[in-house]
Amino acid sequence: MTALTRELTAIVSDAFAAEGLSAEFGTVKRSDRPDLAQFQCNGALPAAKQAKTNPRALATKVADRLKQNPIFAKVEIAGPGFINLDLTDEALAARVAAVSKDDRLGAPETGTGKTMVIDYGGPNVAKPMHVGHLRSAIIGDSLKRLFRANGWKVIGDVHLGDWGLQMGQLISEVELRGMAPIYFDANFTGPYPDESPVTMDDLEVLYPAASAACKADPARLELARKATAELQAGRPGYMALWKHFFAVSEKGLKREYGSLGIEFDLWNGEASVDPLIPPMIDDLKARGIAEESEGALVIQISEPDDKKEMPPLILLKSDGAALYGTTDLATIVDRVKSFDPDFILYVVDQRQHGHFEQVFRGARKSGLAGKAELEHAGFGTMNGPDGKPFKTRAGGVMKLFDLIAMTTDAAKARIAEAGLGADYPVEEQEDIAQKVGIAALKFADLSNWRLTDYIFDLDRFTKFEGKTGPYLQYAAVRIRSILRKAEEQGFVTAPPVVRSAVERALVLKILALPEAMESAEEKRAPNFLCEYVFELAQEFSRFYAEHHILSEPDADLRAARLGLCALTLAVLTKALDLLGIEVPTRM
Ligand code: ARG
Repeated sequence: MTALTRELTAIVSDAFAAEGLSAEFGTVKRSDRPDLAQFQCNGALPAAKQAKTNPRALATKVADRLKQNPIFAKVEIAGPGFINLDLTDEALAARVAAVSKDDRLGAPETGTGKTMVIDYGGPNVAKPMHVGHLRSAIIGDSLKRLFRANGWKVIGDVHLGDWGLQMGQLISEVELRGMAPIYFDANFTGPYPDESPVTMDDLEVLYPAASAACKADPARLELARKATAELQAGRPGYMALWKHFFAVSEKGLKREYGSLGIEFDLWNGEASVDPLIPPMIDDLKARGIAEESEGALVIQISEPDDKKEMPPLILLKSDGAALYGTTDLATIVDRVKSFDPDFILYVVDQRQHGHFEQVFRGARKSGLAGKAELEHAGFGTMNGPDGKPFKTRAGGVMKLFDLIAMTTDAAKARIAEAGLGADYPVEEQEDIAQKVGIAALKFADLSNWRLTDYIFDLDRFTKFEGKTGPYLQYAAVRIRSILRKAEEQGFVTAPPVVRSAVERALVLKILALPEAMESAEEKRAPNFLCEYVFELAQEFSRFYAEHHILSEPDADLRAARLGLCALTLAVLTKALDLLGIEVPTRM
């Protein structure tokens, strides 16, 4: 199926072409003034300029051709030569009927036959997760769902930070505390125990202690550095310990992400590509792409028309240690080999933009990215009321579980205030509160343009009015309840018809889902979907306020309106699903 604006663009482009003009002028978009027209084409103005004729006269010629097409109820010239278009109600009904029969609800097929890897989440093993990781997971998960819905084959990788200094800090901390001597005993030949010597709770204590000690004492930091180097050189006891840290963290993280409804296809990390680094370096050296610079091995990446000087991508420091950029380059090699992707998208804090620019240039210069396009979709920070990155009241990093608990509590209070579900079983009430809380959190995050910072304000996020997740869940639940009552009364549904202004507006909005999905994909920005789903809910409210549905005496009309309710619910649920938001069965 083609999105409606694309279908209209094709028609209007043909009309321009028939007048001997470039078809490109035929672009049709939704009207800026829905009170005047449904769609508009502004191409006659630039077309006339190019052809050196009068824009209104040219628009009239194009319009005369369009008037031959029975799908238009109105073709009008406005102002200096804008072409305003309305579709007939029959044309709208036919398109909406086609959408109701389509499992994909008209979703675009931009990704058919294409594969992408999306890199999001990125928490660090043993270190607490911070709000940046949370934003990455929420935005990345939504983009993964969107690209998938648009036909892409998508592989989501959590890309754990599991190979840095924090691992050495932790290993040395365990040693200093004498917690698991066997892993440090040079005479021990293995096998090492299957059971982890540390729990998630231990890690949460050990890491901050180690990190504070390393900050305070250079000798302690040196110990951590040495342990990191020995780990990376493959010392068996350290490797065994590292495996435990990784497994314990992975389990904890899976639970935390799981409670947000976020999943990853790959649980790879920086360490997993470590073996690829030496051959990659050899190859880059052999091809003259990597060169020595002040004792380090680098790829020069500056380009002639850079406004700002681009520092080289450092592959190996003078002591031979690999860096963050080296692992990211090796990860590209790994992904190209494993998936041959057309596209790799990194959903990571905007503050890392410079890093990705370096890595991408290095990858392009060395040809390591194959056919894959590389792109960084950055995001801003979630701030506390003080305008600084969000922390707990005690000033620490907010743990995801605590954040979810806080959000669920706020949702519970709101639900009670709205007088919803008080007589439902307790487990169901809990489940609803959790879903509402997560919707509040995700929608508040996703509804901003990703690069904009925003302030964490649970009170606003959990409101049942306005542009919030809970409002949209409630809108969906309300439609579901209408449909349930209709079923109880034995009412049937029929394909929607378009007769009134509010029905027309609702149907036009339903048909705009593919356009919202396209824009969101193009800009890698779920806020287009948020905007869309909010407008859809509002159009439904207007329709519901103006028309009888269950109490409509005319059975045909009632059936058609129920059909429109059912389709609205399907589209609403799908759009929310793209945002990672689940709708409770009832509220
Ligand atoms: N672990 C990194 C951090 O906490 C984020 C990883 C992002 N992904 C990547 N391929 N570099 O900052």
